[in-house]
Amino acid sequence: MRIFVTGATGWIGSTVVDQLLDAGHDVTGLARSAASATALEAKGAAALRGDLDDLDGIRAGAAAAEAVVHLANKHDFASPALNNKAERGAVQAIGDELAGSDRPFVLAAAMFRLAPGRVATEQDRSPFHGIDSMRGGSENLALEFAERGVHTIVTRFAPTVHGDGDNGFTAALVATARAKGVSAYIGDGANRWAAVHRLDAGRIVQLALDKRLSAGTVLHAAAETGVPTREIAEAIGRGLGIPVASVPADRAAEHFGWLSRFYETDMAAASEATRAVLGWTPGGPTLAGDLGSGCYYR
Ligand SMILES: NC(=O)c1ccc[n+]([C@@H]2O[C@H](COP(=O)([O-])OP(=O)(O)OC[C@H]3O[C@@H](n4cnc5c(N)ncnc54)[C@H](OP(=O)(O)O)[C@@H]3O)[C@@H](O)[C@H]2O)c1
Repeated sequence: MRIFVTGATGWIGSTVVDQLLDAGHDVTGLARSAASATALEAKGAAALRGDLDDLDGIRAGAAAAEAVVHLANKHDFASPALNNKAERGAVQAIGDELAGSDRPFVLAAAMFRLAPGRVATEQDRSPFHGIDSMRGGSENLALEFAERGVHTIVTRFAPTVHGDGDNGFTAALVATARAKGVSAYIGDGANRWAAVHRLDAGRIVQLALDKRLSAGTVLHAAAETGVPTREIAEAIGRGLGIPVASVPADRAAEHFGWLSRFYETDMAAASEATRAVLGWTPGGPTLAGDLGSGCYYR
């Protein structure tokens, strides 16, 4: 298939592109810089120069493709309104372009506040609707496009997609611990984060395109259902050789900044339905394995 990928040079996107190319697909990646374009071309993909805010460019990329994978995100946690607007705008543009075509549209989503107090499943609906909500309500917007002839597949990534080169939440926890000289968890640290190795997360996207799933399928990239945040802090403490301590909930924002609202949240997620429809069997290291391997502390 000819596949247009946004975020193609990101941490997850770059393994997704590798895996799509290995599976025999033609890939065009959205590239916002010459360096990103060069990186794509070096691995045998094509580059379409453009930006998340250039909706005409995104529509053009989608128009020329048989399937779209949307992984780009500004990740500007200090400006959530801009982030949400960009994310929703891109999903709207891709959905409008694909409407009525039944072409696959695989997009990245998250596991935030899906099922407070219990393990989330693929059947749980995202509570976020509208441009002012988390990720601009893009998951629900994309699922609405399934009723307009878009073959939407939502891929919710665990809050810790982990491994060498991580630039996400787990890397931010390590950076905070290093800066503070203490590896902390919030309260009793019993809240859990689902986890998945980067290569296993990328494989889900490739399988989602190669299997004929029903439009509107929601997938969970979660190899581990839930690792208590206290255990994450303890592993980071061992890795950095620093003390581990609890931070009370009312001081979490001061200690962790923007990260606190995620780190204090229980984000445990099952993946039984995902494994069943894709035949997905994660094989990568566990989160504890990666946090013990040294790759987070160079
Ligand atoms: N990593 C995780 O643990 C995790 C967990 C849950 C959900 N997710 C979601 O999964 C997706 C991929 O995450 P990731 O970890 O691969 O993120 P990442 O490494 O930060 O990559 C983000 C990608 O978006 C591109 N991008 C950023 N701003 C852009 C703009 N203004 N215009 C065009 N492209 C832009 C980047 O381009 P450059 O390559 O040129 O910088 C990069 O390719 C995101 O939607 C993320 O929110 C990730």
